[in-house]
Amino acid sequence: MPLLLALDQGTTSTRAIAFDATLAPVATVQVELPQHFPAPGWVEHEPEDIAAHSLAVLREALAKAGGEARDVAGIGITNQRETTLLWERATGRAVGRAIVWQDRRTAATCEALKAAGHEALVRARTGLLLDPYFSATKLAWLLDHTPGARAAAERGELCFGTVESFLLFRLTEGRVHATDATNASRTMLFDIHRGAWDAELCELFRVPMAILPQVRDCAAPLGETRLLGGAIPILGMAGDQQAATIGQACFAPGMMKSTYGTGCFALLVTGEEAVPSSNRLLTTLAWQLGGRRAYALEGSIFMAGATVQWLRDGLGIIQHASEADGWAARANPAERVQLVPAFTGLGAPWWDAAARGAILGLTRASGRAEICRAALEAVALQTGDLLEAMRRDWPGMKQTVLRVDGGMAKSDWTMQFLADLLGAPVDRPMVTETTALGAAYLAGLQAGLLPSPSEAPTHWRLERRFQPNMSREEAAERRAAWQDAVRRTRSA
Ligand code: G3P
Repeated sequence: MPLLLALDQGTTSTRAIAFDATLAPVATVQVELPQHFPAPGWVEHEPEDIAAHSLAVLREALAKAGGEARDVAGIGITNQRETTLLWERATGRAVGRAIVWQDRRTAATCEALKAAGHEALVRARTGLLLDPYFSATKLAWLLDHTPGARAAAERGELCFGTVESFLLFRLTEGRVHATDATNASRTMLFDIHRGAWDAELCELFRVPMAILPQVRDCAAPLGETRLLGGAIPILGMAGDQQAATIGQACFAPGMMKSTYGTGCFALLVTGEEAVPSSNRLLTTLAWQLGGRRAYALEGSIFMAGATVQWLRDGLGIIQHASEADGWAARANPAERVQLVPAFTGLGAPWWDAAARGAILGLTRASGRAEICRAALEAVALQTGDLLEAMRRDWPGMKQTVLRVDGGMAKSDWTMQFLADLLGAPVDRPMVTETTALGAAYLAGLQAGLLPSPSEAPTHWRLERRFQPNMSREEAAERRAAWQDAVRRTRSA
């Protein structure tokens, strides 16, 4: 049976998963990615780590699956989005480090552009907010702070790309400089309605168009790598949250997924309609297949699993993340402790970078159990805020079923509370590695091994459905108490 190789280059780790042609995982290999914090608010990755780790995990996963290059029908690449790289076209050598999506060094630039009234244009063309999260101002920073870079870029000697584009370039040994439409949609330089780079935005952010990659479909003959012992076609590509949406088989308008990793990213598929947000969500591409674009509304929360990490490493009240469930279940129901995890500010729908975390409602009876419960509840309560904003933005969203994945989706307690709070079923699939699954699906689709989205793909299987079991009055009361707690942490 042919294999499909998925490469998932994430913020904290790089992994490769070999799937068989029915999309059952056969072998997984993962390595941690070192993080560099050269100044407060700065986050960088070493491009050579990204390239070397990616090749290593691909090779190992193939060997572990007992396969050779000729057994692989195609590779699918998925990646941490927005992280910005610049490299020499002639050698593939990176110019400086990669500036990671979390990096806030261009906050002042974004504020100045906002003050000058440019946010409306950015919103209209890209569906994004004028925020350092996205690539454009990071790229301008690299061009401005690397000696000779701007002139070399004008001469077309440099290439810009986010992680997938850099990996494609390196895997094809410099033959292909391309990206896919989902990743392009996160750069703040791409018109999501026309599906093309935007000259006016490039001028606004001072980015020479000569350095931009070609934009392709998510399933396409993207190139060929000869670095795994023989020629293998690269056939799939999507940003990690979009790949997770595809891995969750959220293909019909109204379907949504929420991935609980370090942070949480919820995407609601709106089909061929790009729904503008009045509630500070992002309008983004969900995928582009056969030249046709599908869109999604996205809400991003910065702290989900990272809150539980903080219970372990910051507070030291648990030893393993998995203990939080047990403590939450033992918490005193009469206690009402709230934890607002605004450790690095608040993401959607608040976008308040200066907000800071708080624990509220402590009594003499509050302890470890109540704080653990408050941390898990906060993840669900934040998801509730995103869904509320989605409902307001898109009245087409009627019945909600939320498909969940990522490390925290394993927490039964959190998923049950999430269903209770939302008043909607929460579905957890058999394969929770949905990001890699989505990338493998795209490669398999292009290879002709798997059915298209309109033919109802069968790669999604339910492991457990969490049914809501809380009165709507109580859910409303919980949400109101949460909103009040959030208000107390806001900066303005
Ligand atoms: O937008 C950032 C997102 O793509 C990062 O995802 O899973 O690498 O933290 P992850």
